[in-house]
Amino acid sequence: MNDDIGVFEAMHTCRAIRYLKPDPVPDELIRRVLDAAIRAPSGSNRQSWHFLVIKDAATRKMIQERYKRAFDAYAAMTASAPPRAGVSVTTMDLVRKSATHLAEHLHEAPVLLMPLLVNEQGPLRGDGPLQTVARKSTYSSIYPAVQNILLACRALGLGACLTTLHLMYEEEIAKVLGLPPNVESMCLIPVGWPAAKLGPVTRVPVEEVSSLDRYGRRW
Ligand SMILES: Cc1cc2nc3c(=O)[nH]c(=O)nc-3n(C[C@H](O)[C@H](O)[C@H](O)COP(=O)(O)O)c2cc1C
Repeated sequence: MNDDIGVFEAMHTCRAIRYLKPDPVPDELIRRVLDAAIRAPSGSNRQSWHFLVIKDAATRKMIQERYKRAFDAYAAMTASAPPRAGVSVTTMDLVRKSATHLAEHLHEAPVLLMPLLVNEQGPLRGDGPLQTVARKSTYSSIYPAVQNILLACRALGLGACLTTLHLMYEEEIAKVLGLPPNVESMCLIPVGWPAAKLGPVTRVPVEEVSSLDRYGRRW
């Protein structure tokens, strides 16, 4: 286990790992991952989060079946989409293959982590500017914790992948998991020991996605 990598190395090698071994992951490691998650910032430091650790085989299968249905619908919708700028057809094929593998084997991941948003204020209705701020701040508040989960997994040598497709069946899944009405699933992270080695993270370079003082002005 290699958990002494630097933060930059972790960020540069934290790939979406969709090939996972079914071997169990000790609870102590999951606890460390969640202990990293709760160090994240949140709006007004509200910490309106809860983390469901799903290990029960039947529950994992129930989620996988719905995830797979959502994946099939998504794959059909995007089948003829052209590759994004800067992404080769080979890369797109590899991502599609790994995403298909995950959809078919999601339940084999020993742990499914489900970050939940606990909305104490009830539904954030209204279109005023402050409601917009509250809504955006509330919904954004889970993702720093999610990123900490991904980085902690990377540091511990665990594979993980942020996914959201299960949300197509959000209500059905929430019911089985016993989520109260003010608790929302935000994403689903299968966690396990990686079954494949991937290269470093590659992205569109900084120069192409940043500006100085005005949008579109190069720096
Ligand atoms: C908000 C969000 C939703 C995502 N949903 C899914 C998903 O449902 N299924 C999946 O296989 N990957 C999903 N991903 C993973 C992305 O496809 C992945 O992070 C991206 O392709 C970069 O992969 P890389 O870091 O290995 O290059 C999601 C990522 C984000 C940030």
